[in-house]
Amino acid sequence: MDHEQIIELTVNFVKETLKNAEGGHDWWHIDRVWTNAKHIARHEDCDLLTVELAALLHDIADSKFHNGDEEIGPATASKFLKSINVDQAVADHVASIIKHMSFKASFDKAGFHSPELAVVQDADRLDAIGAIGIARAFTYGGHKGREIYNPEIKPQLNMTKEQYKNTTAPTINHFYEKLLLLKDKMNTNTGREMALQRHAFMEHFLKQFYGEVS
Ligand code: ADP
Ligand code: NI
Repeated sequence: MDHEQIIELTVNFVKETLKNAEGGHDWWHIDRVWTNAKHIARHEDCDLLTVELAALLHDIADSKFHNGDEEIGPATASKFLKSINVDQAVADHVASIIKHMSFKASFDKAGFHSPELAVVQDADRLDAIGAIGIARAFTYGGHKGREIYNPEIKPQLNMTKEQYKNTTAPTINHFYEKLLLLKDKMNTNTGREMALQRHAFMEHFLKQFYGEVS
C-alpha cells in the first residue's frame, strides 16, 4: 500500500472512531493537528508517514475519556496499524509517540524522544493555545461542567500529575496550569514562532477578561 492509501484508511478510521467526541477533541482537532504537523515537518528532518500517522491517531482513545487508562491510546493505534499492514517499525514508533506526547506524559521524566515526536507534539500544542486554544478550553470545561471563573479559587502552579488529572478548577485556571506554559516547551523553531503569536493573543484575552470581571 502506498503513502496516500495508508493515510486515507487512517483518516476514515479516525473520523468514524471520533464521530461522537467532545468538541475540543473531535475530528476537526485532529485535522488541525495534522495540518500543523505537515507544515512543521516541511522544516524538519523527519519521516513524514510517521508524523502524519501519529498526528492522525494521537487522540484516538485519550485516557481522560477512558477512566485514566494511558495504554489504550497507543494500543488502539497499534492494533489499527497492524490491521492495515503498516510496517511494524513505523507502527511501533507511532505508538511510542502517542504514549509520550501528551502534557500528562511530560510529568513522567523517563522520556522517549524522536524528531517525529517533536513535530507532532508541537502541532498538538499549537491547537491548545491562541484563539482556538481558548475555544477548546471552554468547550472542554463546559463538557465537564466546570465554572468559567471563580475569584475564590486561585490557579495552582506546579501541579503534580495526579493534581493535574483530577482538577475540577474553573477553566480560567487551566491557562495558568498549562496553556501559558506551552510556548516555552516547544521543540521546533517553526512551532515556537507560531506559538509566540498565539501566546500573545491569550495574554491579550486574559487582560481583557480580568478587566471585565473585576
Ligand atoms: P494532553 O492531552 O496533551 O495531556 P490535556 O489532556 O491537558 O492535554 O488537554 C488537551 C486539551 O483539553 C487542552 O489543551 C484544553 O483545551 C482541554 N483541557 C484539558 N484539561 C482542561 C481543563 N482542566 N480545563 C479546561 N480545558 C482543559
Ligand atoms: Ni490532541
